[in-house]
Amino acid sequence: MSQITVQGGKPLVGRVDVRGAKNLVTKAMVAALLGETPSELRDVPKISDVEVVQQLLQLHGVKIDFSDDGVMKLDPTNVKSARMVDIDAHAGSSRIPILFCGPLLHQLGEAFIPDLGGCHIGDRPVDYHFEVLRNFGAVIEQLPSGTRLSAPKGLHGAKISLPYPSVGATEQVLLTATKAQGLTELSGAAVEPEIMDLIAILQKMGAIISVDTDRVIRIEGVSTLNGYSHRALFDRNEAASWAAAALATGGDIVVGGARQQEMTTFLNVFRKIGGAFEILDDGIRFRHPGGQLQPVVIETDVHPGFMTDWQQPLVVAMTQATGFSIVHETVYENRFGFTDALNQMGAQIQIYRECLGGNSCRFGQRNFNHSAVISGPSKLKGADIRVPDLRGGFSHMVAALAAEGTSNVTNVQLISRGYEHFLDKLTALGAQFTYTE
Ligand code: EPU
Repeated sequence: MSQITVQGGKPLVGRVDVRGAKNLVTKAMVAALLGETPSELRDVPKISDVEVVQQLLQLHGVKIDFSDDGVMKLDPTNVKSARMVDIDAHAGSSRIPILFCGPLLHQLGEAFIPDLGGCHIGDRPVDYHFEVLRNFGAVIEQLPSGTRLSAPKGLHGAKISLPYPSVGATEQVLLTATKAQGLTELSGAAVEPEIMDLIAILQKMGAIISVDTDRVIRIEGVSTLNGYSHRALFDRNEAASWAAAALATGGDIVVGGARQQEMTTFLNVFRKIGGAFEILDDGIRFRHPGGQLQPVVIETDVHPGFMTDWQQPLVVAMTQATGFSIVHETVYENRFGFTDALNQMGAQIQIYRECLGGNSCRFGQRNFNHSAVISGPSKLKGADIRVPDLRGGFSHMVAALAAEGTSNVTNVQLISRGYEHFLDKLTALGAQFTYTE
């Protein structure tokens, strides 16, 4: 198990560059399956989620060339069924395989999906996905290991309404409806920037998709799609993570590649807590301007709300604010597990079952610990901690870097699922640590 030993208490200062968003790139790779001709995706980060999707696509006959400068060429002209045993070897490694369903049903008439992985931040069911696929005409069979799908009568457009604007279920609809026969109308859709970028890719491929007001997306099915050429949207979650790291360590970080438009909600909170930022032509500079940080009250939500993935690293900065901050997590029911380690390091964070935001959410009155009160400022001190999940793990790293003394952080390889070259980036920012494989 990989471990880093961090000497904390030193501001992070310097520049890091972010590339394409994990939560777009992996879906764009799946979209390439739908084309009759090869696709080219640029700014692809070298992260393990990309590796898993690359291997699954290769098992299905997609030829992939991935160069060091982040250009990925995907040739789907010889797509074929993969052996169940080979697919199953990827069980538990990612959540993206669920999005192979529609494209494989279109191209091969059948699909086999391994059991899913991903971070343990809640139950994360896939009931919306299966309901969506059934609406399109798919037949779903649960096997002891994985799920088999077929479409005996082909896939046809459908009128679908999501009970919650799920990112994944919206992508499932997009990737299935573009080549389904007839019209699809999706209401209750998620409209995250990564989804808009996926729509842009599908439009380049030949799809007809309109995004209407009030979370309604309409898709006119077409019989053929071609490959695309596209530069992926930057990773705004990674950008927000480095911004939080700058604030928590009293540092100054330029995040190259970050853009204001997709981060306005985050930037508002960053300013309210007392952080300073400057929008540059090629990125955003985030810094602690000195003085006290202010407590904030935030509620995570679907776009255009405050993203759930921004919450964990920013909580570390909240431990340094003077007063009580509140975070009401309304997207995942169990995303505060990471706070135990922060408390062990000296933070004062109390978790509540009640909805402590302005609104009651799906998790209220259901025994889910989904609200946090953070009392600060706390002097963080080094500790031995284990990375629990991707964003929680990054926040542990940030806490270790902000803390006085030495921390041993284990299971750090989990962070490379979503943060490209993060140890090199830490070095570039002047962090003091040693790494053991
Ligand atoms: N949900 C269901 N049933 C479903 C699907 C979702 O109940 O069939 C629930 C989930 O349990 C959750 C909520 O709906 O409570 C939202 O889930 P959503 O489907 O929107 O999330 P996702 O597609 O699984 C993506 C990102 C997450 C990000 C969320 C929200 C990817 C690979 N993952 O997950 O990113 O937090 O959207 O924006 O795109 C991360 O990057 O660390 C990460 C967890």
